[in-house]
Amino acid sequence: MKNNFPGMSKKKFFIQTFGCQMNVYDSERLGQLLENAGYQPAENPEGADLIFLNTCSVREKPAQKVYSSLGRVHGLKKRNPRLVIGVGGCVAQQEGEALLERFPYLDFVLGTKELFRLPAILEDLENSGKRQAAIHLEGRTDPYASIPLSPPAGKAFSFVSIMQGCDNYCSYCVVPFVRGREVSRPSREILREIRSLAAGGAKEVTLLGQNVNSYGQKPGGEIGFVQLLEEVEGISGIRRIRFTTSHPKDLSPDLARAFGRLSKLCEHIHLPLQSGSDRILERMNRGYTREEYWEKVGWLRHQCPDIGITTDLIVGFPGETEADFAATREMVERIRFDEFFSFKYSDRPRTRARLFPDKVPEEVSRRRLAEIQSLQTKITQERNKLWEGREVEILVEGRSKNNAQDSTGRTRTHRLVNFPGTDYPEGAPVKLKITQAHAHSLRGEPLGEGETRP
Ligand code: SAH
Ligand code: SF4
Ligand code: F3S
Repeated sequence: MKNNFPGMSKKKFFIQTFGCQMNVYDSERLGQLLENAGYQPAENPEGADLIFLNTCSVREKPAQKVYSSLGRVHGLKKRNPRLVIGVGGCVAQQEGEALLERFPYLDFVLGTKELFRLPAILEDLENSGKRQAAIHLEGRTDPYASIPLSPPAGKAFSFVSIMQGCDNYCSYCVVPFVRGREVSRPSREILREIRSLAAGGAKEVTLLGQNVNSYGQKPGGEIGFVQLLEEVEGISGIRRIRFTTSHPKDLSPDLARAFGRLSKLCEHIHLPLQSGSDRILERMNRGYTREEYWEKVGWLRHQCPDIGITTDLIVGFPGETEADFAATREMVERIRFDEFFSFKYSDRPRTRARLFPDKVPEEVSRRRLAEIQSLQTKITQERNKLWEGREVEILVEGRSKNNAQDSTGRTRTHRLVNFPGTDYPEGAPVKLKITQAHAHSLRGEPLGEGETRP
């Protein structure tokens, strides 16, 4: 690429990421690809020669954000006509060529399984001005296989994608259509990546997939998820292992036991319930009942009484009656999650639920959302209160957002703790005594360097 001629200043790229941690991971890999191709990161969009929007289509609202960002980026291109603009991720996959037609100033569209094509697309653009949409999705190929691995050094917290796609087809969900069929990455690739992250200073690694519990059951991976966790446990330098997301239908007793057995595996699980009504779970095609979910919570708490359990809920799914919603409220009260993310149902392209006739009116969904959120806020507060007076270990994530004199980090159970002092390097373990519980965080006092756990 011309970019590589000695003496020329390097071109700069800026990636804006929307959506889930998968996209965060993809943006990191794309950044590595661009650096290998001779680019360097820009501090802000104004200083960039290439702006890439990595998008999310899971609900209408995040999908719409892309369009406002594109408007802003268009403003920059009017001042600098040489600015290259690309859209990637799940909206790119969904819309493809249509984006190029609708936005004449957009230079390229990059689907979720063609990340490796980015340098070639940029070269085509530079050489012949060719605008293109690379959105091939078919087959069970590993989209990361053809991207050279050069994990960043000096990052204490890292994400590693262990699989791509989803075969579950929950009736509301666009992910199977925009991420393709489920494929596991080969375990040796994943382990090689984590080893090199650890060599570069990583302390905590989060394994990512839409449904990590089925790792290795689909083409690609040769070992099961628990075995993969055991292998990661053996990597020196890594102190903590997390993973997300677990699907309740595939959570095995073996995985529940791993929480009691693997010392680096953090005591937290994100286990999306979606609804507490069996009738709605069935219509969602989730593959479990409320009692099965409750039984699995029992396995987890039996292994690990303090385990942090968080969830996702959808209110106002088509056909959700007051009785269905009451069943969800009842499950929230029974399970007492540590925290949750809750959403109003949103129609997505190509999904089955989009065609369900019995849509819930917006004002009803809004009321249900407010109701369930205020219930959970109370429960979160009560659950946080139980930690007052206890000793915990956190890994330092950085300065507190609310107070420049404080640092912040998370417990193994995923609770955010703020504490006085700013002299701690990122990733350092610190033991704290919890002095106060707030609505969404804890406050602690340092007790010294934490060395109780590996
Ligand atoms: N793979 C994960 C979730 C991925 S999407 C799982 O199986 O649970 C993240 C969350 O967005 C989902 O858990 C769900 O709560 C929410 N979500 C997905 N599609 C949605 C839709 N059409 N409307 C509202 N919320 C949705
Ligand atoms: Fe979507 Fe269901 Fe797959 Fe999760 S498991 S990504 S909700 S289809
Ligand atoms: Fe969004 Fe795609 Fe993730 S739709 S939630 S960015 S897989």
